[in-house]
Amino acid sequence: MEHYFTNNQNLKSQMRTITLEIKGEVFTFFSDLGVFSKDKIDYGSRVLLETVLENEERSNLNILDVGCGYGVLGITLGHFLNSNVLASDVNERALHLCKKNLKINNVVGETIVSNAYENIVDTFDLIITNPPIRAGNTVILDILRNAKDHLKENGSLWFVIRKDQGAKSILKRLEDIYNWQVVKKSKGFYCIMAKIR
Ligand SMILES: C[S@@+](CC[C@H](N)C(=O)[O-])C[C@H]1O[C@@H](n2cnc3c(N)ncnc32)[C@H](O)[C@@H]1O
Repeated sequence: MEHYFTNNQNLKSQMRTITLEIKGEVFTFFSDLGVFSKDKIDYGSRVLLETVLENEERSNLNILDVGCGYGVLGITLGHFLNSNVLASDVNERALHLCKKNLKINNVVGETIVSNAYENIVDTFDLIITNPPIRAGNTVILDILRNAKDHLKENGSLWFVIRKDQGAKSILKRLEDIYNWQVVKKSKGFYCIMAKIR
């Protein structure tokens, strides 16, 4: 079975644009076949964005968007928090779209191919992710647990996960590293903020 995170060179291209209206502003994103949530912004991503924007008071941050897809999380935060973004993914088509989307939304940022943190050396004020549930718990825990090595002092890790996709057991497996809190619950999605203990 083909997953949205595999690199299939033979996959046709059918570019389209999708929009996100948030806090009275409209963002446009190029999307295509073979990327996550290609026709509309994922509900979990939207709720996560709203939750971060309701709670994050800092600006001028260095933000890492892990598993960025076409870049909705990093780009929207980059705009509202006036911040730099590094956007990473294993899906090269998604990264290509993300690069275009940074540009058309006037957000300062870079993209990088990286399996979790393999190619990432810096540390960040904020790491955000809507983790790839279909990639399985090992990948999800790799992304969530190893964020600790890429957070600056007082940095925060934000993520969204569905209650029925094992949120509770994943959170249990983060307790040795982070103090976390479920900041919002909406339609079975948990938005979580974690800081290193
Ligand atoms: C649930 S999607 C979220 C996409 C985007 N952030 C959004 O909110 O629409 C998860 C993303 O993680 C990427 N991904 C899958 N495995 C990965 C890995 N090992 N390392 C980094 N990214 C990965 C997928 O290609 C996909 O773009």
